[in-house]
Amino acid sequence: MSEDLSIVHGNKQGQYENLLPQIKGLLDGEPDLIANLANMAAALKEQFGWFWVGFYLVKNDELVLGPFQGPVACTRIKKGRGVCGSSWQDAKTLIVPDVEKFPGHIACSSLSKSEIVIPLFKNNEVVGVLDVDSDILNDFDETDQEYLEKIVTLINL
Ligand code: SME
Repeated sequence: MSEDLSIVHGNKQGQYENLLPQIKGLLDGEPDLIANLANMAAALKEQFGWFWVGFYLVKNDELVLGPFQGPVACTRIKKGRGVCGSSWQDAKTLIVPDVEKFPGHIACSSLSKSEIVIPLFKNNEVVGVLDVDSDILNDFDETDQEYLEKIVTLINL
């Protein structure tokens, strides 16, 4: 496929529906994990303009920063720490409407107001997370959860 992304405006569902096949196309035939995570982060950032989009991967029992788009971020997160470490520990998606109200939230930037974290599974084990931060309060809902959970299944971990 061409490397230009087609961006649409309008409702969230329409934006995801337009983006999904393009992300599939970007990953198609490319076996390199880092390349695929990098393009996925870029595609999500370009379509939605979120403050920060990226991946943390489990390495030696810690989450370590992977490909991302946005400002510099903390590099290591322990299991159960912050939203990312909690999503890893609980092996489930976490939607945080107001990060200041999440006990133990790790503030990489004071501009981040709400967050969604999706675990990445391989053989029923969490091997990483997709973390998305917004500078708008309450920016994520079940539509984001549904589509982002679908999008991360495209990754060949
Ligand atoms: N806020 C996250 C840390 C990662 S940064 O937002 C990129 C957390 O609490 O896990």
